[in-house]
Amino acid sequence: MWPPSNDAEVEAALLRVANSNQWVEGPETEALEAELADYSGAKHTAAVANGTMAIQAALAGFGIGRNSGVLVPAYTFTGSVLPIVNLGANPIFVDVDPDTFNVTRTSVAQALRFAEQFGFEVSAAVIVDLFGLVVDDDVFELLADEPIAVLEDACQAVGAAKVGNRADATVYSFNHTKPLAGGEGGAVVTDNPDIDLAVRRWRRFGEYPFDTAGRTYETVGTGTNAKISEFAAAATRVALTRLDDHNAHARRAGAYLSERLDGLVSTPKIPEGADHVFHKYRVYGKGFDDPALAAPRTRWVERPVAYHSMFDAYRYGNEYIGALAVANHSWCLGSEPYPLWTVTDEVLDLWISDVAAYHNTGPWYGFAPNGMETNR
Ligand SMILES: Cc1ncc(COP(=O)(O)O)c(C=O)c1O
Repeated sequence: MWPPSNDAEVEAALLRVANSNQWVEGPETEALEAELADYSGAKHTAAVANGTMAIQAALAGFGIGRNSGVLVPAYTFTGSVLPIVNLGANPIFVDVDPDTFNVTRTSVAQALRFAEQFGFEVSAAVIVDLFGLVVDDDVFELLADEPIAVLEDACQAVGAAKVGNRADATVYSFNHTKPLAGGEGGAVVTDNPDIDLAVRRWRRFGEYPFDTAGRTYETVGTGTNAKISEFAAAATRVALTRLDDHNAHARRAGAYLSERLDGLVSTPKIPEGADHVFHKYRVYGKGFDDPALAAPRTRWVERPVAYHSMFDAYRYGNEYIGALAVANHSWCLGSEPYPLWTVTDEVLDLWISDVAAYHNTGPWYGFAPNGMETNR
C-alpha cells in the first residue's frame, strides 16, 4: 500500500525539519537541489512547491506570457496545460500516438503547420513523457530547428528522462504518486543559469535579490509564492536515494505484465531503445469501450485534457484522434494508490488473472483496472 507508513528514514527526516526551526528555504531545500542536480547531471536545480508550479516557473523563465503560443499534448495531465493558461498564453494542442501515448515528430510537425496557418506564433513546447515513457529524441530534434524554447515534462518519468541539451529545461514532480515521491514538490532542472535564476525569482514573489539575509522585498518581475516546504524537501531526499530501485522495480513489473498479458490485451509499445518506468501501465483490450465503462470514464482524469471544458476555446474545432482513441479504448492497470514500483508479484498476478477473466467472460467484473474501485 502506498504511501508507506512506519518509514523510519522518512520519520527521522521529518523530525529533523520539525526541530530545525526552519520550515522553508533551509538546508533541506538546498541539499535536495544539489543532490538532484548531481543525480540528473545538470548544472542547476531549483525546487518549488509542486510540478505544476515548476512548469509555470520554467515557462515564465522562458519569457512566456500573454498571447504566447505553447505546444502541449492533447492527452496529458492538466498540470501540463494549466500553467500555460495561467501565464496568459495559448495552449496549442498536439495529438498523441495511441500506441505510445506520447506526441511524435509527425504530430508536432502537424501542430506547427496548424499554428502557422492560423497565425499563432509558437514560443515554447511542453513535451510530456507520459506514463513514464521517455519521448523520442527525434521530437526534440525537430523542435531544435524551431526558434522556440523546449520544456520536458518528466513529472512521470523522473530518473528515466534524459536530462541534457535536448530540452532547455526538465521538470520533475515529487507528488506522492510519482516515481520520486516526497509528498508534494517539484523542480526545474537546467543547464541554463538564466532559467534557473528566473525560476528562483519566480518562486519567491518575483523578488531579486533573494538571499534571505539581504532581502530587499522588491518585486522586480512576475512571480508567486511557490517555495517547497522543508518537510517535503527532506522526504524527497529520502525518496531520491530509492529512486533507481523503484524505477527498476517498475520496469520489471511492466515487463512481467507485458509478457503475461501478451495476446490477451494490447500491451504498451516501447519504441526501440526507449526507456519506460511505467508510472502507469495502460492497455487496450476487447470491450474496453464497453458501455459498462461509461460511468468510470466520466471521471475526467480519463478524458483527453484538450476536451476539458476549461480548454474548449483552445481546440479551434480540431479533433485529436489519437487522444480520443486512448481515452475511449484503453484502460489503466493500477492507479494512484498502486504505482507499479510499489506493487508485489502477487498483486500483479491478481491483475493478470482478472484481465484474463474479463477477456474470457466479457462483462466488466472483477478487476477495476483503474485501481480506485478495487482494493487490489
Ligand atoms: C505529466 C504531469 N505533468 C505535471 C504534473 C503536475 O505535477 P504536480 O502534481 O506535482 O503539480 C503531473 C502530476 O500531477 C503530471 O503527471
